[in-house]
Amino acid sequence: MHASTLSPALLAALQAELGPQAVLVGADAPQRNHNDYSGLQPSRPLAVLRPADTAGVAAALRLCRQHGVAVVPQGGLTGLCGGARATGAQIALSLERLVGIEEIDPASATLTVRAGTPLEAVQQAAAEAGFFCPLDLGARGSCSIGGNLATNAGGNRVIRYGMAREMVLGLEVVLADGTVVTSLNKMIKNNAGFDLKHLFIGSEGTLGIITRVVLRLYPKPASTQVAMCAVRDYAGVLTLLNSARQSLGPLLSAFEVMWPEYWQFATTRVAGVRNPFQGDDSPQGAYVLVEALGTDEAHDAPRFEAWLAGLMESGVLSNAALAQSLADVKAFWAVRDATVELHPQLPHHLAFDVGLPVARMDDYVNRCRQALQARIPNACTLLYGHVGDGNLHIIVHQAGVAEQPKSLVDGIVYGLVREYGGTVSAEHGIGTLKRAWLGHARSPAEIALMQCLKQALDPAGLLNPGKVI
Ligand code: FAD
Ligand code: LAC
Ligand code: ZN
Repeated sequence: MHASTLSPALLAALQAELGPQAVLVGADAPQRNHNDYSGLQPSRPLAVLRPADTAGVAAALRLCRQHGVAVVPQGGLTGLCGGARATGAQIALSLERLVGIEEIDPASATLTVRAGTPLEAVQQAAAEAGFFCPLDLGARGSCSIGGNLATNAGGNRVIRYGMAREMVLGLEVVLADGTVVTSLNKMIKNNAGFDLKHLFIGSEGTLGIITRVVLRLYPKPASTQVAMCAVRDYAGVLTLLNSARQSLGPLLSAFEVMWPEYWQFATTRVAGVRNPFQGDDSPQGAYVLVEALGTDEAHDAPRFEAWLAGLMESGVLSNAALAQSLADVKAFWAVRDATVELHPQLPHHLAFDVGLPVARMDDYVNRCRQALQARIPNACTLLYGHVGDGNLHIIVHQAGVAEQPKSLVDGIVYGLVREYGGTVSAEHGIGTLKRAWLGHARSPAEIALMQCLKQALDPAGLLNPGKVI
């Protein structure tokens, strides 16, 4: 079979509208655009388009539709489920040149930004203006704000600030036919008809391409308290979670749990990561990073310390380390952020981001572990997650095999998710990797409504086809 090629007519039209430097074809299509971070086989798209503005995105979609060619939006390509990967018959549309902060409005506490801008640049711009952008995830340096919204990213601070969806006030999107819908609302309250932005947030580029975003900004925290806690078992995790909610109240900003196998991996196999419990590496039931962001160091620090001391005295914690400096804060978070080393250390591992009722997570974990051990005797299973949000990450890796046993592991993980009333994706989305499992988390009526929306907004089926539904 011959590889598909771009028709000369479409190539000429795209070059005329976008400029030749924005249309990369064949060997010129950069290798980085051949894949996202999901570990699938790389695939070279028909072409990579790099429009520099909304008008360019609109022209590209209009022309591709006229020629019946499918378009796959690409942000920072850190997605973990194949959503941004284009096949050889599709065009990749990268937002990498659509970057920059357009405005910070202190009175509305909003930041308007172009979709291709890296999340870290947004965080920095907010901080420089005296505000806080609470969206945060390990891929912050590479992922784009448009990709974050297209996937409704979660991350480390959902327990306090919610998912990416909650931080958005306005959007500009380009529809599959090239229509530009500019809705850069800055008001917190706007009930004039349907809130259309929520159609596009979390739809993984299947309903429209996000080109600009109005984000809500928050007051910059003046104090950061971080503790690494060890507990004997999952009951201890739940006691700690309830206590943190009660005692830290609205200051609680992260509650990240790591099971022993993950802890062992992070603290012994990842360069630059140190065990916060210096000198004590006795195995514990679970490890929890607790963060509180406050407004007054003089008041918040002693309160946090007293809370932690109380938990040690009452025996809830079997060990605890309190960050005494910014360097400690970074070092403690480094244990949790060691996930960036998963790919190099456990190549082609299988990764999951399931959602579960918090009270039943331990039961799920035990059954899942048992089932995996029984079916894949030498599998390495690492567990960690944003447990305060009911979100568990599972990493499964079988050493020494040519191909990971994906369908077997999927069946075990998602079969139990359905039994426990959970979801197959708490934060990363569906993409292509979880498409076959959507029915384990959504009803036929829900899926039919999703298909109905897709049909209405993209009747030709040319915007990121084969993803999600
Ligand atoms: P891409 O990978 O480029 O694209 C993702 C999807 O969005 C694709 O379907 C694509 O077609 C679509 N898309 C991209 N840009 C647009 C746009 N402008 N308009 C419309 N559609 C678009 N995710 C979490 O939720 N929480 C985490 O804690 C987290 N941690 C991570 C840590 C690491 C080390 C890594 C590698 C990934 C992590 N992720 C996490 C996953 C990933 O970073 C997020 O899904 C992120 O939001 C993707 O952004 P991106 O710009 O890289 O999107
Ligand atoms: C994390 C990503 C993988 O939380 O969601 O590490
Ligand atoms: Zn996560």
